[in-house]
Amino acid sequence: MRLLFVGFGTVAQGLSELLIEKQDELSEKHGLDWEVTGIVDILKGSAYDPKGLDLERIMAMVADGRSISEYPEGGCDWDAPTMIERAEADTMLEATYTDIKTGQPATDHIRTALARGMSVTTTNKGPLALFSNELEELAAANGVQFLYEGTVMAGTPLLNLIRETLAGSAISEMQGILNGTTNYILTQMEGGMDYSAALSQAQDLGYAEAVPDADVLGWDALAKVTILGNTVFGASLSPDDTPCTGITEITPAQIEAAGADGKRYKLIGRVWRDGDQVRASVGPRLMDLSHPLSGVGGATNAMTISTDTLGEVTIVGPGAGRRETGFSLLCDLIHIAKGSPS
Ligand SMILES: NC(=O)c1ccc[n+]([C@@H]2O[C@H](COP(=O)([O-])OP(=O)(O)OC[C@H]3O[C@@H](n4cnc5c(N)ncnc54)[C@H](OP(=O)(O)O)[C@@H]3O)[C@@H](O)[C@H]2O)c1
Repeated sequence: MRLLFVGFGTVAQGLSELLIEKQDELSEKHGLDWEVTGIVDILKGSAYDPKGLDLERIMAMVADGRSISEYPEGGCDWDAPTMIERAEADTMLEATYTDIKTGQPATDHIRTALARGMSVTTTNKGPLALFSNELEELAAANGVQFLYEGTVMAGTPLLNLIRETLAGSAISEMQGILNGTTNYILTQMEGGMDYSAALSQAQDLGYAEAVPDADVLGWDALAKVTILGNTVFGASLSPDDTPCTGITEITPAQIEAAGADGKRYKLIGRVWRDGDQVRASVGPRLMDLSHPLSGVGGATNAMTISTDTLGEVTIVGPGAGRRETGFSLLCDLIHIAKGSPS
């Protein structure tokens, strides 16, 4: 499988480490023999060689702060659209930054690659939250695969669980903790910290951005809920139509009162069937301490899936991280190599 990386930041490098580390195992156990023909990154540079790039060497160059464009056999100055138009590759890995308002430029990267007959895997929430139905149709029309396990709960295999293992179940509701930063802040507040101190600790630990709005106002969870509504429930939800409240208004007094009442606040992303409609919401909910989601503390993510066959199934795991999110792309590549339907 000839791979094209678009965006070579944390997640793409996490995948690269896994590809190098597991190269023999991937070939022997999963029939995934890979080579990288192209890499393009807006600041880190670009390289293209249809005969294959030396990924270890490029990782070392990036670690040394050298531009990928200095790569001796194939370093170039192509931008992402040029690379995607020209490169010979079977699968594109889209891991540029998420723009939740426009989905760009990632959506155009994906459109071009699918139209050229490449399969695509991405961790980018923007294109999925806004254009998942269009992109799925484009992939099907071009006979290629489009997978996006890492857009919700990183490498924790929620979408695979639903697509593969729960394929014979009808799902009526999904509710979960889809943002690790806010769950960390709420956990610290239960321990007695106020909101500002908990946020600044989350920033020091690298969980929260300097501008934390996407997390604390619920927008990140909203993108994920929209993705679930549209891809799992076949709806046409838009983030703008979904009620969304973050955690900024929750006070220590409310948290203490909830505890005294045998409950706990969690920021819950929820999507459910309501007759013929699919509805979604993001907001703080008071959960009974006996609920599986109540026991999920810190930066961990979790999702409870209500099915007609098993009742409730809860999956718990990381929702971010270099290796953890890189793994989601690896998981998708293995599926593509095996020819699973998208
Ligand atoms: N990190 C996680 O734990 C995690 C978890 C789930 C999903 N995701 C999603 O996965 C994606 C990648 O995340 P990340 O953590 O790897 O981010 P990152 O470290 O910022 O990497 C993104 C890379 O894409 C490059 N880039 C941005 N725009 C580009 C363009 N137009 N053309 C070419 N390259 C471009 C950036 O270049 P420069 O920085 O060099 O300018 C950067 O190297 C994001 O959409 C993110 O939301 C991340």
